Amino acid sequence: MTNEKYPYEIKAVKMEVEGTAHKFPVIVRIGPKGYVFPENFKHSAADIYNMEVRPSDVFVASFPRSGTTWTQDMVWLIASNLDYERALKVPLTERYAFLEFFSSFNDEMKMKLLDANKDDEAKLKEVKLLLKPATEILETTPSPRFIKTHLPLSLMPRKALEAKVVYVARDPRDAIVSLHHLVNSMKFMSMDEDFKAFWKSVLNNFQPWTPYFDHVKEAWEMRHHPNMLFLFYEDMRKDLPSVVRRVSDFLGKKYNEEEIARLCDHLSFDNFKKNPSVNYDLIKEIGLMYADKDFVRKGKSGGWRDYFDEEMIAEADKWIEENLRDTDLRFPSMQ
Ligand code: A3P
Repeated sequence: MTNEKYPYEIKAVKMEVEGTAHKFPVIVRIGPKGYVFPENFKHSAADIYNMEVRPSDVFVASFPRSGTTWTQDMVWLIASNLDYERALKVPLTERYAFLEFFSSFNDEMKMKLLDANKDDEAKLKEVKLLLKPATEILETTPSPRFIKTHLPLSLMPRKALEAKVVYVARDPRDAIVSLHHLVNSMKFMSMDEDFKAFWKSVLNNFQPWTPYFDHVKEAWEMRHHPNMLFLFYEDMRKDLPSVVRRVSDFLGKKYNEEEIARLCDHLSFDNFKKNPSVNYDLIKEIGLMYADKDFVRKGKSGGWRDYFDEEMIAEADKWIEENLRDTDLRFPSMQ
């Protein structure tokens, strides 16, 4: 299905036909790269693609589990004159619209969530916010608007680069380990699938937001665009102050060394983990995530080594080598 409003073909695929178990029995594959999304995304893809973009908009984009939340709070604070009071008071989920998240829920999931929270006004408000199309929320959001997305650049609003886009990438082996933890932490995604099976399903492009390398390479190719800033999670871990300086320059802000040091302390893993404004405790409270799991989890680089056996290491080496052959993209963790 393509039309004048949407340039990509959207193909619905039954997962059983592709021979794999999946939480989403039907997915869609979009465009020539076949990006995978839950079926419901087909209803919002064109609205997102054609959404009105304001020059003051700031997008934070990534493949999931690449340090998005960390980048979001950093970007928001830098853009908002280091307003810690608001950053600590207003949850990240309210400071940013999550562009495609609402489309992950089918009708049954929506009913369950609404029903589970019907007796608590505050939680019900949160659920309704999550389920409302972000494009609608954004219509009435005052500028500057902050937008989170895991869409690859080609599926983002086509005018996104008329605003500012910060893209963060992470060693895929760590991102995939982290994604497996997340998937098994979410009540509506949990598959009880072991890591090896999950790894294979990412390699075979069965999981939402894959193919991984196309996602990252699309952003990498645009990294010199004046409205694009490309970051690596590993650089943030190694030298956060210099990343803060780059983001500040990109957003036209200037902070002194003392201010940068305070921001890095606010963004440190230990402080992040206990900061309810960013640690997604809210999604536990509304019953989306199991209470004993953590969204902000370990915050390490190279932790994938504990999860890969020899066969998986060889598969990863081959996958990475093949996908980096036609590009000058190099991950800091692979040099
Ligand atoms: P791990 O699961 O490897 O710990 P996203 O926000 O894109 O979902 O990314 C989540 C990953 O970023 C998780 O990785 C999480 O722990 C890590 N993370 C979140 N905040 C962090 C911080 N302040 N410092 C380092 N890593 C952080």
